[in-house]
Amino acid sequence: MGGNTEGILIQGGRLADPANGVDKICDIFIEDGIIKEIGTGMEKSGVRKISAEGKVIMPGFVDLHVHLREPGFEYKETIETGAKAAAHGGVTTICPMPNTKPVMDSAEAVRDFLERAKEAPVHILPIGAVTVNQDGKELADIKGMKEAGIVALSEDGKSVMDTLVFRHGLLEAKKYDLPMFSHCEDKPLVDGGVMNAGKKAESLGLPGITNAVEDVIVARDILMSKEAGNRLHLCHCSTADSVRLIRFAKEQSLPVTGEVCPHHFTMCDEEITEDHGRFKMNPPLRSREDVKTLREGLRDGTLDVISTDHAPHGAEEKNQSMKKAPFGIVGLETSFAISYTELVKGGVLTLSELVEKMSVNPSKVLGIDKGNLAVGKAADLVIAELDTEYEIDPETFFSKGKNTPFAGKKVYGRILMTMTDGKVVYEMPF
Ligand code: DOR
Ligand code: ZN
Ligand code: ZN
Repeated sequence: MGGNTEGILIQGGRLADPANGVDKICDIFIEDGIIKEIGTGMEKSGVRKISAEGKVIMPGFVDLHVHLREPGFEYKETIETGAKAAAHGGVTTICPMPNTKPVMDSAEAVRDFLERAKEAPVHILPIGAVTVNQDGKELADIKGMKEAGIVALSEDGKSVMDTLVFRHGLLEAKKYDLPMFSHCEDKPLVDGGVMNAGKKAESLGLPGITNAVEDVIVARDILMSKEAGNRLHLCHCSTADSVRLIRFAKEQSLPVTGEVCPHHFTMCDEEITEDHGRFKMNPPLRSREDVKTLREGLRDGTLDVISTDHAPHGAEEKNQSMKKAPFGIVGLETSFAISYTELVKGGVLTLSELVEKMSVNPSKVLGIDKGNLAVGKAADLVIAELDTEYEIDPETFFSKGKNTPFAGKKVYGRILMTMTDGKVVYEMPF
């Protein structure tokens, strides 16, 4: 997407740019899609002026883990609707997972996808599958996909259950300097489970998914990435032991990063009020103790990244018992508000630390030049308002998916404007 040539002067906002140690009131001048000047009392003529008094300006969020559903499941979401949802959520870079139809497992599939995505209003950096068709047997064409433009490998939706195949995937990923994004789930151990194992599952009469389903693969993947010497990013950590295992990895200075989604640090299984698909995602909502430990992991740096695992589904297929509904909830349009409300207003992180989790650190995982609003950088930024409470309303979502357990939740942190390369891709009047 080309940068916007129009000059824009954003006046008097609070710039929260932790990559440069900045948290101050200032003016920002943008031209040709680049940040040209940062200062105070700036005057420019013939440019668009945006008054940002009382607002906060942050680098656009980088979401390492979304599902756009195109090609193959366009009734759930398309590249267009998913990208618009990202812009509405202040997210200027997204990494879609390969569990599409066909699976993103070849150079041709990557090229086709990028052709479809070229007009998108946000940056889209695709993730390739580890094995052909995600069948877990034969390695995909990792070299070809790298050349075609993938930024990571993942089997997300499942794990590569054959550990020898996983070893070869790690070694191939290392050869092409690709991080491995692991969805950690020992499939046989799921044993038909549809929500977290425990008292609430029993009271709802639903089969449970224990923490061990995630933890044994987290442990395996950490040890296998240690043996292979490849970067490992652990997706949507949901359990206390996942946090402890990542701490163990970091104590050995292993190249391991951990990701957590807003639903997993906000909600526990006791808050599931009924057997309904809006509460169903993989991994599932865990215990109060798990939520507490995830928050500690965010605070002490064990968990580096907040992503959404934005997983849209059709209303009908979600509007049923968890026994039948597919796993997954949407998150692009609620992620900042839930994170700001639960973590910053909740005293777990400062605003700058939250920006590190949502923009700076994800950029470091990929090794891309985002999450930074210094002069000379691309104007990928978001303007938000932090002081007005509002209720999450799925009817306001740009996503085709409305499946969220957070409908009606009172939050703070509304996105007012999102810009990619200096081009306004979302704005609401303010
Ligand atoms: O809840 C989930 N939904 N978790 C996954 O791992 C896959 C995702 C999807 O593709 O729907
Ligand atoms: Zn997953
Ligand atoms: Zn996912």
